[in-house]
Amino acid sequence: MTKNSNFIKRLIFSLVVVALMAVPGAALAQSLPDPVKEDMLETGKKVYFKRCVWCHGIEGGGDGPSADRLYTRPRNFIQGTFKIRVTDSGELPMDINLINTVKNGLQGSAMPAWGEFLSENEILSVVQFVKSLVQDREWNDEDEEVNNVITGIAADNGKGPLGDAPWAATKGPYHLGIPQENIDAGRALFKKNKCEECHGGEGRGDGNPTMKDDWGFPIIAANWQQCWNFRGARREAYDPFVIARAISTGLNGTPMPNFREQMTGPERWNVAAFVNSLCPRRNIDKLTNKPIPDFLIQSVYTEGPVSPKIDDPSWQSPDTDDRIVAASEELKDNPRRHLIAMGGQITRGKRNFDPKVDNMYVTTRWSAEEMAIYYLVEYDTRFLSNDPEYPDAVAIQWPAQLQELFGAEKPYFINGDSKKPVDIWKANFLAQDYSTTNAPNPEGYKLAVTVEETVGYGFDAIKAKESEPKVQVVDSIFHQGRVKIMFRRDLKTDGEFDVQIPTEQFIPVSFLQWSGWDKEKDEHMAISTWYYTILKPALPTSLYYMPPIMAVVFVCFQGWLVWMTKRTRKMYDEGKIKRDELPL
Ligand code: HEC
Ligand code: HEC
Repeated sequence: MTKNSNFIKRLIFSLVVVALMAVPGAALAQSLPDPVKEDMLETGKKVYFKRCVWCHGIEGGGDGPSADRLYTRPRNFIQGTFKIRVTDSGELPMDINLINTVKNGLQGSAMPAWGEFLSENEILSVVQFVKSLVQDREWNDEDEEVNNVITGIAADNGKGPLGDAPWAATKGPYHLGIPQENIDAGRALFKKNKCEECHGGEGRGDGNPTMKDDWGFPIIAANWQQCWNFRGARREAYDPFVIARAISTGLNGTPMPNFREQMTGPERWNVAAFVNSLCPRRNIDKLTNKPIPDFLIQSVYTEGPVSPKIDDPSWQSPDTDDRIVAASEELKDNPRRHLIAMGGQITRGKRNFDPKVDNMYVTTRWSAEEMAIYYLVEYDTRFLSNDPEYPDAVAIQWPAQLQELFGAEKPYFINGDSKKPVDIWKANFLAQDYSTTNAPNPEGYKLAVTVEETVGYGFDAIKAKESEPKVQVVDSIFHQGRVKIMFRRDLKTDGEFDVQIPTEQFIPVSFLQWSGWDKEKDEHMAISTWYYTILKPALPTSLYYMPPIMAVVFVCFQGWLVWMTKRTRKMYDEGKIKRDELPL
């Protein structure tokens, strides 16, 4: 090689560097990835084989014994692909990113938060061991430079090249108080950058059903209205930084790109403000990282008949908890949107089944004039089935013979039992003129619904009712990734196994749901535990609010007494305790 060509090469290189630096956001802090700390591998290996191997597999191939049951699947570490980073798309992460992931988990996936179970040193060590499982890339290779596109220093949060947003410091509870002008500016950028092609028109992740991740597994876009399920939420679901980071770095291994070419730092902050504003404020449970459910479902008394139209103003209320963000003046007398937590049933068939829907919203009204109750059940699901073999479905479950239950007695929570049957109202439905590859329709899709009323005597013992069907679905729609189904029934009926609904009394109620698109059917479903519902009388809420709480406490106490008495008597009968040892 001549001196001359060497000079030209160097010149071209310098020109490229200068050109790169002229691109907005390209002046980055370059460095090599953190090398593997060999002296920590011994400890890290122990932790890994005790805690991580079950999901991530012996060689880190993401193929541990639990892997097949999980969605999304445990990460295969071999390629060195990590989603949550401060580094550029395609680059290896910094140690601090992996440490924060292991501490806080990846919300919305099976990856647990280890912060409470492992010591600081164990976490640092296991991160080193995970890095040593990467085979396809070298942590000390000179070509593996990393660019911290967020801060320029090795931190997992901050500003730097991303640019500071004055409002981003709103660290108050729930990060409320972001100025409306930033949110509006963000909405326009959301449109311009076509986030909806993947995330859907209202951000429920319903834009594209055909995406695959780098390992060939199907992947769906995040639902922005469930920000507690963002992988990078770091147990701070409402922090807009999570979103700003995702659009600045992209998520490696997934179709989620970065948007640094398209948007300046402040613009990315504005998009974050908009996306953040869509996520309903709810109390998040520290243990599960999911919103705390509303165990008491209040059915609001309605003067005159209830409107059977989902769009009617009398049914409008925000998904947000009105104890966090007060409802507006015109909505404040409307029924609250109660949050119901859903989980997989784990007692029968395919164990640890992981359903796709993990919460629902329930809004209810009743009318003394009609002597009827209305239940509006809503949940987010990205795509519906159009296979009649696997319709989508949702059901409400009640004790069939409520009046015969004593104290806090309840039927078995999945389909009842032989002594305490349940009354199941199930709506099966298929969307009309719908295919998953249709663009989301701003009008929504009409649903063809069939109502099934059955009696459950136990897990495998569901029978059709002999009495006339009484339950109606009066209105329904699938709109921008959300299903809305409104049930109606008379409070009193003549069917032997129809629940007879009293007013001003606590009634156990629970919910079941099947996602047809994910081929959920029979015992493959999402279920809730028992909730209580109460038909409130025509009194101002403030007067009525305390007594139900007192009553729940009382009912629980009574139930506990009944249980204790029975148990003690049984132990006494079996001679396990003597009379003078009786606790009561
Ligand atoms: C119950 C199963 C399970 C266990 C146990 C588990 N993980 Fe994970 N882990 C997952 C899943 C699932 C993912 C992928 C989630 C995704 O990509 O959405 C994951 C992803 C990861 C990632 C990738 C992070 C990223 O940004 O992409 C790291 C690192 C990780 N796990 C480390 C660990 C370590 C260390 C342990 C043990 C201390 C552990 N995991 C235990 C399920 C598990
Ligand atoms: C080509 C499809 C696609 C486009 C376009 C897209 N996203 Fe995504 N996005 C995804 C996918 C897929 C995921 C989920 C990845 C996962 O679950 O691991 C995701 C996840 C996210 C997350 C969750 C981050 C986390 O920590 O889990 C946010 C926030 C997000 N995207 C915001 C945006 C914004 C804002 C835009 C537009 C500026 C956008 N996305 C454009 C596909 C896309």
